[in-house]
Amino acid sequence: MTRVLISGGKVVSASGRSDADVLIDGETIAAVLAPGQAETLGLSDEGRDVTVIDASGKYVIPGGVDVHTHMELPFGGTAASDTFETGTIAAAWGGVTTIVDFAVQRTGESVQDGLAEWHRKAEGNCAIDYGFHQIIGGVDEESLKAMTYLVDHEGITSFKLFMAYPGVFYADDGQILRAMQNAGESGAMIMMHAENGIAIDVLVAQALARGETDPKFHSFTRPAELEAEATHRAISLSKVAGNVPLYIVHMSASEALEEVAAARHAGHNVFAETCPQYLYLSIEDQLAQPGFEGAKWVCSTPLRSKHEHHQADLWKGLRMNELAVVSTDHCPFCMKEQKELGLGDFSKIPNGIGGVEHRLELLYQGVVTGELSLERWVETCCTTPARMFGLHPRKGVIVPGADADVVVWDPNGHTTIGVDHKHHMNMDHSAYEGFEVDGKVDTVLSRGTVVVADDQFHGRPGHGRYLPRGLSQYLQ
Ligand code: URP
Ligand code: ZN
Ligand code: ZN
Repeated sequence: MTRVLISGGKVVSASGRSDADVLIDGETIAAVLAPGQAETLGLSDEGRDVTVIDASGKYVIPGGVDVHTHMELPFGGTAASDTFETGTIAAAWGGVTTIVDFAVQRTGESVQDGLAEWHRKAEGNCAIDYGFHQIIGGVDEESLKAMTYLVDHEGITSFKLFMAYPGVFYADDGQILRAMQNAGESGAMIMMHAENGIAIDVLVAQALARGETDPKFHSFTRPAELEAEATHRAISLSKVAGNVPLYIVHMSASEALEEVAAARHAGHNVFAETCPQYLYLSIEDQLAQPGFEGAKWVCSTPLRSKHEHHQADLWKGLRMNELAVVSTDHCPFCMKEQKELGLGDFSKIPNGIGGVEHRLELLYQGVVTGELSLERWVETCCTTPARMFGLHPRKGVIVPGADADVVVWDPNGHTTIGVDHKHHMNMDHSAYEGFEVDGKVDTVLSRGTVVVADDQFHGRPGHGRYLPRGLSQYLQ
């Protein structure tokens, strides 16, 4: 087995930073060595069956774990434009070594069939390791039984329900309660898309009747109150179900954050994630751009007004651990032939933003601007996502025995984001076109194999393995 020594860097974890060398043996981390120890052990000379990666002046962090992606998701009459191959290669370029994607059960379809389809799409195609959550698009006796089976036999321990999208994925309160009770029995986590979809549909119909068809009306018809109301209701239902662990996905509104903060303060197992788009983008600067341009930023929950300081509140929430995780909700659609489906009717624009490649660099910019500490960056992007979804300590940490998923990060590097700067996602535009950020992915290892180095992709589709997951390790 080949050994790799990542030498001379500063190893950053969720709890601190120290000068150390990382020794990798095969696919796992063998040791974290104090400076000088590698020389003493005769490990620092190339050729002695050790490949040395010089990380001087750089940070050495666990590979990024993105627990919210949608490769090839069928949505709004089309499908997300990244395949598992293109999406995981783009992820690797951005320092992500694990994704957890959402297998889909559509209403009327069996959960197992939906899961089998996701395995077919992913198997042999992923450049990095991957796991699945399961979307439950129809809560009934059969799907409730399937949830238990997936926890016990398939390594799927988290289930996404939707309070939005009536007629597509929507679950009513009774169905949600039953699914939560079921999850409580097996220890699984319920992930919630928390928006009041019934009320939103009324607002959408009224807006269209007034001739309000531009992309910005997507956000105006999904007000923050309806995100907060659904978040509150989801929390209440999870309490009634017996304090079942609840994870609110893609949070964008301050008011919803307050609901999570209050529940956490009261000691409940309620968690939330946000995404870079909600930290950096707004109605004013992006979604309300003239003509159809704003379609690039149509996603749900929607981008919010910067005058209402949602973005600043979310950064604060991240610092306070009211928001535990940053994921991307990577769900890319091209403008051509995809977003264009909603020309003249914002409600027909496929919902989603692509960003799997840019999470680490965008959040590192938060370190540069003082929003987050270096350790909190690692915690929210690597360590907590792994713990939250039963992948710890295999993923998300640099400790002996963990998978050798490691990113060498150059704090003196510089990254310009966009399709004009050759991003790797299969999209004809970027939500972050022209964004300039400090820091750069230098080298990425996935289970001991260098997959990105010297501005080249060295990995291969099929290297990535399916990760059966355990129960959340983040519960109180
Ligand atoms: O706009 C979004 N978020 N698209 C993906 C589906 C979802 O609700 O996460
Ligand atoms: Zn959602
Ligand atoms: Zn999503």
